[in-house]
Amino acid sequence: MRVVIAGGHGKIALLLERLLAERGDQAVGLIRNPAHVADVQKAGAEAVICDLETASAEDVAMLLSGADAVVFAAGAGAGSGAARKDSVDRGASVLMADAAERAGVRRFVQVSSMGTGQPPRPGTDEVWAAYITAKTAAEDDLRAWDLDWTILRPGRLTDAPPTGRVRLAPPPVPRDTVSRADVAAVIAALLDNPGTRHQTLELVGGDTPVAVAVHSIS
Ligand SMILES: NC(=O)c1ccc[n+]([C@@H]2O[C@H](COP(=O)([O-])OP(=O)(O)OC[C@H]3O[C@@H](n4cnc5c(N)ncnc54)[C@H](OP(=O)(O)O)[C@@H]3O)[C@@H](O)[C@H]2O)c1
Repeated sequence: MRVVIAGGHGKIALLLERLLAERGDQAVGLIRNPAHVADVQKAGAEAVICDLETASAEDVAMLLSGADAVVFAAGAGAGSGAARKDSVDRGASVLMADAAERAGVRRFVQVSSMGTGQPPRPGTDEVWAAYITAKTAAEDDLRAWDLDWTILRPGRLTDAPPTGRVRLAPPPVPRDTVSRADVAAVIAALLDNPGTRHQTLELVGGDTPVAVAVHSIS
């Protein structure tokens, strides 16, 4: 399977690239910074330079030619302002979905976030509100495309080692943390289970082995 990952140098993306390479899949990481090429290659993936805030849908569609799936794992990241929440967390996801449809790549897994889909609480920090607004718009946009999408909303991310066990279910799942390594394992399993298409799933650490958790909602 050839999987194109938007935000290919992100922490989840690098872990996913390793998992895909280990099982013999071909991962392609879209990155904007040439200095990140070596890290992506070290993770076993092909690195392709593509700034998702300036590329056109046609440009990205060409990069998706021959792919079997797209994973959206980009994000403006901590320290960015409201404008980049919109241009990356929303805009880059819209761009990838548009490009996927143009390229005929049906399978699309979007990394969203718990808290998405509800209006930000009054008094919420302006940048957090912009983040939730952007993620909600990205989810709404993805559901409107004729794609085999799955939306994955992890809880607060940690860099803990993988446990291989999670709690994965349609919302609402009680808020908790989840390691990026377990998120990557769930994405890899979702790519293998097209029966999870058209589902919005929340993910935190838990007791169920990843394969069982994904199989049970497929
Ligand atoms: N932090 C949390 O607790 C939490 C909880 C739930 C969900 N999430 C979401 O989970 C996702 C992945 O998390 P993570 O920790 O793996 O994120 P991360 O390490 O911050 O990775 C995000 C990647 O997106 C890339 N990116 C940003 N702008 C780009 C652009 N214009 N073109 C191409 N790539 C671009 C970044 O590249 P550069 O290095 O070049 O900026 C970075 O490599 C994010 O969408 C995040 O919002 C986070």
